[in-house]
Amino acid sequence: MSLDIVILAAGQGTRMRSSMPKVLHPVAHKSMLGHVVDAARALSPASIQVVIGHGAEQVEQTLAAPDLAFVLQAEQLGTGHAVAQALPVLSADNVLILYGDVPLIQVDTLNALLARCDDQRLALLTVLLDDPTGYGRIVRDEAGQVVAIVEHKDASAEQRAIREGNTGILAVPRTRLEQWLSRLSNNNAQGEYYLTDIIAMAVADGLRIDTEIAGDAMQVQGANDRIQLAQLERHYQTMQVEQLMRQGVTLRDPARVDIRGEVEVGRDVMIDINVILEGRVLIEDGVSIGANCIIKDSILHKGAVVKSHCHLEHAELGEGADCGPFARLRPGAVLGKKAHVGNFVELKNTRMGEGAKAGHLTYLGDSDIGARTNVGAGTITCNYDGANKHRTVMGEDVFVGSNSSLVAPVTLGDGAVTGAGSTITADVPAGALAVGRVRQRTIDNWQRPVKNS
Ligand code: UD1
Ligand code: CA
Repeated sequence: MSLDIVILAAGQGTRMRSSMPKVLHPVAHKSMLGHVVDAARALSPASIQVVIGHGAEQVEQTLAAPDLAFVLQAEQLGTGHAVAQALPVLSADNVLILYGDVPLIQVDTLNALLARCDDQRLALLTVLLDDPTGYGRIVRDEAGQVVAIVEHKDASAEQRAIREGNTGILAVPRTRLEQWLSRLSNNNAQGEYYLTDIIAMAVADGLRIDTEIAGDAMQVQGANDRIQLAQLERHYQTMQVEQLMRQGVTLRDPARVDIRGEVEVGRDVMIDINVILEGRVLIEDGVSIGANCIIKDSILHKGAVVKSHCHLEHAELGEGADCGPFARLRPGAVLGKKAHVGNFVELKNTRMGEGAKAGHLTYLGDSDIGARTNVGAGTITCNYDGANKHRTVMGEDVFVGSNSSLVAPVTLGDGAVTGAGSTITADVPAGALAVGRVRQRTIDNWQRPVKNS
């Protein structure tokens, strides 16, 4: 059966106290609406309609994608009215309603729900709550069949005692939905067109209401304020790190690792505390990551070691390579097998060959460094002339003396050596020693100045 998905995202979210539309607030660096859209995509529907209203332009600009359609609900007259705005463009057999501010909804829950929806059945996702205040209540008859949803503000004291709440997420046959929505009225406590009123209509028309109870209340939790947003973030992080642990990662403290993107991991990976993994991060078997590291869009091959306090972005560590503590690997930093980058070393757009080393206090930008080359402490590639960037090329087995300035463009051939403190402005042939510094003068019996009395 074909499926259209409608995501409600027109509400204001006053309690966020924000100039940004509520659904754009992030969980793990992705907007709440983005999470919902991803769950929707995983169901391969015929269409995804996003109903927007408050901050419509901003929401559309942020989420725009070829597989998303946006429908404007100019005035927020209720959830039923919101769905009605999308109806004219729907054509599938069934319609699934999702909420843009309920970001943690899981694909398998939605699949279970959809399995309960056909032309004779409507599927409703409900949740058992200790405090259902504010929720629509699921009213059942003696046989346990759902007969209606009553909104909190319209509910009697008896109905308010019901702990089963409406998550708002439901799946309905489309042609029926069309009939019911056209019959909605706003004659209720909030003067809104309630989507929930279609339940009683469906029952009156002889359809059955099937329910799926969400096992995990956080999965259907919406964020109305920043406190709830933070709770969702924590819950999401817990789900993520538990998945990592199931895949063979040891986390020194699962509460102190944050994942803000997609992480692929091998086995026997060790991650210390206060590590943030962002974007797409690939971590192969046996990798170890020390405390206080931020690793973004990077690849760590087998057995690589990131020591504490490192910052990696679009970087790659070869098998058994290591960096840190306190290394900064900027975009295009690529360490070959067993290469080593030590403390206070910054790399940008630089490849280091197998076993190459830069142990201390060094900036290597726009460079190519051959295998086994050793870059001494305090070396700087002067890669920028104020207008353009230039490359520094070092062959294999080069030895760069400490405190060398390599003024690019410049090439050091295989086995070349630079004397410590040199400013290298011309190419150094293979096997040669280049010394670019003033010769030392020594003055005997030097009279040191004496303090004026
Ligand atoms: C709704 C349900 C309630 C359920 C609760 C779960 C109705 C009438 N009530 O109540 O049964 O327990 O969600 O959180 O459906 N929206 C629009 N346009 C509108 C109105 C709302 O797009 O005109 C969107 C909001 O942005 C939000 C969602 O729909 O994402 C729910 O709206 P909200 O006003 O929060 O509904 P509740 O009163 O919480
Ligand atoms: Ca709500």
